[in-house]
Amino acid sequence: MLNETSQNVPGVEITAATWRDLNELRAVEHDCFDHDAWSLIDLIGVLTLPGTSRLKAVVNGRMVGFAAGDIRKDEATGWISTIGVIGAYRRLGIGSRLLNASEKDMAMPRVCLCVRKSNQPAIQLYTRHGYHVFDHWERYYEDGEEALVMEKYLRSQRIKIETA
Ligand SMILES: CC(C)(COP(=O)(O)OP(=O)(O)OC[C@H]1O[C@@H](n2cnc3c(N)ncnc32)[C@H](O)[C@@H]1OP(=O)(O)O)[C@@H](O)C(=O)NCCC(=O)NCCS
Repeated sequence: MLNETSQNVPGVEITAATWRDLNELRAVEHDCFDHDAWSLIDLIGVLTLPGTSRLKAVVNGRMVGFAAGDIRKDEATGWISTIGVIGAYRRLGIGSRLLNASEKDMAMPRVCLCVRKSNQPAIQLYTRHGYHVFDHWERYYEDGEEALVMEKYLRSQRIKIETA
């Protein structure tokens, strides 16, 4: 099980989430996402489906952030499906820690994600972590906004695959 302590915020623990975290995840989801919030069924799915990386950031026993990813071995790609940190805990390095931990947990040579074109905080986060835009999905979101599709190649994972 992946278990890290944030370097930026004392007492932040990044660890695997389980179905027992459903209620807290609902609260995080509603704090982080407005009309993009996932349904209860989607949240149950992300906490239970196989082939999924699911990590939570916890401070003083309370979930303050969450990240999940689909591990697509046939594409040698991990897709970050969601990442969020509640408002009161942003700009403290927790999103970065969740992103790093997700990349490590999925253990794929390539990681992809999509983001609203207007979501500058998330785009800044991803760019800072080495992601670049490689595609645009027109009218991807329900309100018609375009998605930027971003990717990153993880050197150590690539070397691991090449030498396997
Ligand atoms: C995107 C999000 C996860 C970032 O989480 P976070 O814990 O604040 O991120 P970090 O503190 O690790 O930030 C790392 C870097 O990302 C960039 N960044 C993060 N938030 C930013 C903001 N509001 N404006 C500009 N840059 C920002 C900065 O470069 C930041 O480094 P710095 O603080 O040293 O300048 C958080 O804002 C969030 O949950 N947003 C709502 C949900 C969401 O949009 N998720 C992404 C869906 S694709």
